[in-house]
This record gives sequence, C-alpha cells and structure tokens, in this order.
Amino acid sequence: MRIVVTGAAGFIGSHVAEALSVAGHEVLAVDAPARSLAPDAARRAWAGLAARPGITTVEADLAVDELDGLAEADAVVHLAGRPGVRSSWGPGRAIAARDNVTATRRLLQACARRRPRVIVASSSSVYGSAGRQRPSREDDPLAPASPYAQSKVEVERLALRAAGDGVPAVLLRYFSVYGARQRPDMAFHRFIEAALDGRPLPMFGDGSRSRSFTHVDDVVTATLAAVTAELPPGVAINVGHPEPVDVRSAIDRLASVLGVPLRIGSRAPVAGDAARTWADTRRARGLLGWTAATGLTEGLTAQIAWHRALRAPADTAEVA
Ligand SMILES: NC(=O)c1ccc[n+]([C@@H]2O[C@H](COP(=O)([O-])OP(=O)(O)OC[C@H]3O[C@@H](n4cnc5c(N)ncnc54)[C@H](O)[C@@H]3O)[C@@H](O)[C@H]2O)c1
Repeated sequence: MRIVVTGAAGFIGSHVAEALSVAGHEVLAVDAPARSLAPDAARRAWAGLAARPGITTVEADLAVDELDGLAEADAVVHLAGRPGVRSSWGPGRAIAARDNVTATRRLLQACARRRPRVIVASSSSVYGSAGRQRPSREDDPLAPASPYAQSKVEVERLALRAAGDGVPAVLLRYFSVYGARQRPDMAFHRFIEAALDGRPLPMFGDGSRSRSFTHVDDVVTATLAAVTAELPPGVAINVGHPEPVDVRSAIDRLASVLGVPLRIGSRAPVAGDAARTWADTRRARGLLGWTAATGLTEGLTAQIAWHRALRAPADTAEVA
C-alpha cells in the first residue's frame, strides 16, 4: 500500500514510518521538523528516515502547505501535531490550535476526493480525570482539562465529520507512550536523563498520579493493525496498557532497572494533568486484535538502552 505518515519525524511517527516500510509498504513521510517542540531530535529522526529505502520524505507544514502525495495515498496515518498538556497553556494554546486543529482540518479536507483510510492520533487526555475509578471506555463523556486536550476533542469532531462525509477516518486514543526516542518533555525521558546525570528526578506533583504507560512498540502494532482492519468509520479506539502505574512506582521500577537509588526533586503539579489515565482495552482487542504486550520493566530497560546509546561517543552511538 502507499501510506502517508504525518509527523514522521516525531517520536511515534518515526517508529510507525519505519515499521510500515519494513512491512513492505511505500511510505511518504511528512513533517515540518521546525514545528516540533524538539526540533533537533526531529531533524535527527528525519535524516534517519530519509536514508531508508522505501521511505520518501516531504517537508510540509500541514497548517499552511498543500500536500500533493495525498492524491495517491491508500491510507494516511496522521500523527503530526503539537502534543503535551503542560506546554499548551499560555502561548501554547494557539500552537495547539494551529498544529492540531487547523492541520487536521486541512488534511481531512484534502482526503475528501480519494477517501483513503485516515488514522488520526487522539489522546487519553480527552477523558480528563474520568479514569480515576474505572477504566475509561471510548463512549464515556469527554472532559478535556487543558488547551491540548480541548484541541484533541476538536480534532475528534473533525474526524467524525469527515467520516460522516465518506472519508473512512478512525481515531486512536494513545495513552502515555514511552520507549526509544521519547519526546524530551515527557516524564520518563526527563527521569532517565536526570538519573544518568546523577541529578534529582524532576517530578511534577507528589507522584500519586497514575498512567496507562504504553510502550511505543505496542503503539506501533496497534497503529499498523488500524491501517488494514475492518473498522466502522469514525470509531475511536483506546490504545493503552490496561494496568495503570503511579509515577512513584514507575520511579521505583526505574531505580531497580538502573540498579541505583534515585533522588526526587518535586515540582508543582501541572494544571490539567489527569489524576489517572486508565484504558479500557476491550474495543482494541475486539476490533484490532490488539492488547499491550510490553511490561513496564521491559519497556523501561529498552528506553534506558536508547538513552545510553545516545550518550555514547559518536563512533559507537546508535541514534536512529
Ligand atoms: N506520545 C504520547 O504519549 C502521545 C499520547 C497521546 C497522543 N499523542 C499524539 O500522537 C501524535 C504523535 O505524538 P508524538 O509524541 O510522536 O509527538 P512528536 O512531537 O514527537 O511528533 C509530532 C510531529 O509532528 C510534527 N508537526 C507538528 N506540527 C506540524 C505541522 N503543522 N505540519 C507538519 N508536521 C508537524 C512535528 O515536527 C513532530 O515531528 C500527536 O498527535 C500527539 O498529540 C501522543
């Protein structure tokens, strides 16, 4: 298949683009690395993709540029956007609106003629703190508590409208993804870098917040399954590990993998950060035949190996 992957220079997008090309698909990788909240990492991933057979890279800002490759696409995996609850406050609100909402609106409009399957990245943050007592189900009411979450609710509305107009768009609600190339603003990335430097771990809040932490390999498997599965247009599917872990316990796990005690430097909690995210995964199992396979210890071990490789001298580093 000819598959467009937007946000391909990003954390999840780079893994998805690689996996699709390894599976034999022709991949058109689209990104505007300068729009990334981690432009250096995005440029590095971008160069890695460009060097791979089977992947063509196209720089395009989806909020303003036309994307010719869509006319040929059998499927589009739309991962481009501005992620993150914390950075969406203040001036971040307009960036989230531009790179999430405007970019998605334009992308879906451009898909109206050929009508490829479009997989749109949404987020567990659309549930707010609703997952406190029980796992969040896809039909639960949405309760966005930050500009980022609100932008994803609007992205979901756009995808639903496109589905109503005949574009077979589906939504994947990702839950706290981690693993190699994780974004530098995310908790495990910051924790591991601090631990390797011997600094206190910068933890927001008291560590009682819990997350359905989901390894990127599992996210890739779910996303690739969504490209070819029979799915009702407009359906939303949780892509999250079924067992939430609180941040303190995750830090304990990190300490045991690293084999060193870790100090914590507490910071004020972030407004809009859910107390708990907890994925109900029955729909993913039923529609995609997917359930998360990677446990936290295994996943953290792999992510630590990536951070160590990134720090190794240039002649031995594996930074792809
Ligand atoms: N990582 C997670 O835990 C997580 C959880 C829930 C949802 N998501 C969603 O999944 C998607 C991918 O997340 P990620 O963690 O890989 O983020 P990322 O920031 O690493 O990747 C996003 C990419 O989109 C690109 N981009 C931004 N604006 C663009 C524009 N206007 N035109 C073209 N490209 C643009 C950026 O350059 C970046 O490379 C995002 O939509 C995010 O909101 C991620």
